[in-house]
Amino acid sequence: MLDQTRKLLAFVVAAVMLTPAVSLAAGPSIPLDRANNDVRNVASLQRGARLYMNFCLGCHSAQFMRWNRIAQDLQLTEEQVMTNLMFTGESIHDTMQIAMPAADSEVWFGKVPPDLSLISRSRGTDYLYTFLRTFYVDENGNSNNKVLEMTSMPNVLWELQGLQRAVYDENGDWTGFERFREGSMTPEQFDGAVRDIVNFLDYVGEPIQVERQRIGVMVIAFLLVFLVLSWLFKREVWRNVK
Ligand code: HEC
Repeated sequence: MLDQTRKLLAFVVAAVMLTPAVSLAAGPSIPLDRANNDVRNVASLQRGARLYMNFCLGCHSAQFMRWNRIAQDLQLTEEQVMTNLMFTGESIHDTMQIAMPAADSEVWFGKVPPDLSLISRSRGTDYLYTFLRTFYVDENGNSNNKVLEMTSMPNVLWELQGLQRAVYDENGDWTGFERFREGSMTPEQFDGAVRDIVNFLDYVGEPIQVERQRIGVMVIAFLLVFLVLSWLFKREVWRNVK
């Protein structure tokens, strides 16, 4: 009996100790760059939305996001959203769908591009920021990615970033990138553009987050005031009690 308990205990301890190792192994193989995006920056969200519509929505829906909600949160009028962001002539009350049928994308890319509504929550903003900046042309001339090896997603931002190849040291360890074809943006501008896209995806992942933080601060402030009042009240009530 004691033996069995001991075995069980050993199993539980081993399971607990191994869990982080397993989840780390499933993550990306390179260290991630910090996205440092700010969902309260509305101008950045507007730029990010625009980039998303131009470069991502062709393949990736965001089906939990409604157009009129974007208008409201990004301080745009519904007309501005319809003329500047919506290209497929849906209604402002629709969610962000794509025109491409899943069966076709399966044939073209070998994989259906995932819906990106919740991608910032499942992968994290640093992951997205690094993923979108680490596409490169590998030794075989194929488009590859340092975060998601042999991804079936094409390098859709190459005209902005230019083309880069990976550089390795004498031990064969990857040290960075070397740009061999200029894009329309400087590296700093490109990082900024990607940060805007990631910011937009962060917002899409939880549109209420700015509001939630604001309400949280108000609740804490209320509780503090209430604490003082109840303390004063208690002092008043107990004053004559000997
Ligand atoms: C031409 C179609 C296409 C376009 C345009 C496109 N993607 Fe993708 N994307 C894909 C496919 C296909 C996958 C699945 C890749 C895989 O799992 O290897 C994918 C996967 C992803 C993933 C998931 C990566 C992961 O870890 O699983 C993210 C995030 C992503 N895309 C973001 C974007 C963003 C942001 C844009 C716009 C800048 C964009 N994509 C534009 C086709 C596209």
